[in-house]
Amino acid sequence: MKPDLRTAPGAMILTLAMGGMSAGAALAEDSRWRDCRTCHTVEAPDGTVLARGGRSGPNLYGIAGAPLAGDGDFGFYSDDLRAAAQTGARWNADNFVAYMTDPDAFLRNVTGNPDASSGMHVELRSGAREVFDYLRNLSE
Ligand code: HEC
Repeated sequence: MKPDLRTAPGAMILTLAMGGMSAGAALAEDSRWRDCRTCHTVEAPDGTVLARGGRSGPNLYGIAGAPLAGDGDFGFYSDDLRAAAQTGARWNADNFVAYMTDPDAFLRNVTGNPDASSGMHVELRSGAREVFDYLRNLSE
């Protein structure tokens, strides 16, 4: 049987992804970070840009373990994300996934305000955990 050239690259990616956690995470990043970089950059405190992107959203460097609305240089946080930050919550894999899946619902749950709405109009229905791992690895 002749090898099908159209499926060959896909088969190769699968092999890479199964080769180790890091290869899998890197691949997930490539497809998902595209949904974020329009608005987000990942920039280390020394100014090194680890993932280039836009500036209409906060810097996502060190987001794992960071307080909500914790980018002191970002001046456009919504009142509702700031209100959620008043709970003292910090970003972890679970609340990150909840936020990415439905930002408005997340803020309503955390603040108890049924009218809370996010300044980020993006919903990531799958792959949020991989993006979180990617951001955490990038910031280490
Ligand atoms: C259209 C622009 C836009 C896109 C695309 C976008 N974001 Fe955002 N993001 C924002 C804005 C604006 C905020 C601030 C929201 C607020 O204040 O309510 C934000 C906030 C966040 C926060 C909270 C940060 C903090 O400091 O508490 C996280 C985490 C986040 N975004 C992750 C992502 C990820 C992951 C993606 C890609 C799947 C993404 N965003 C795509 C604009 C965007």
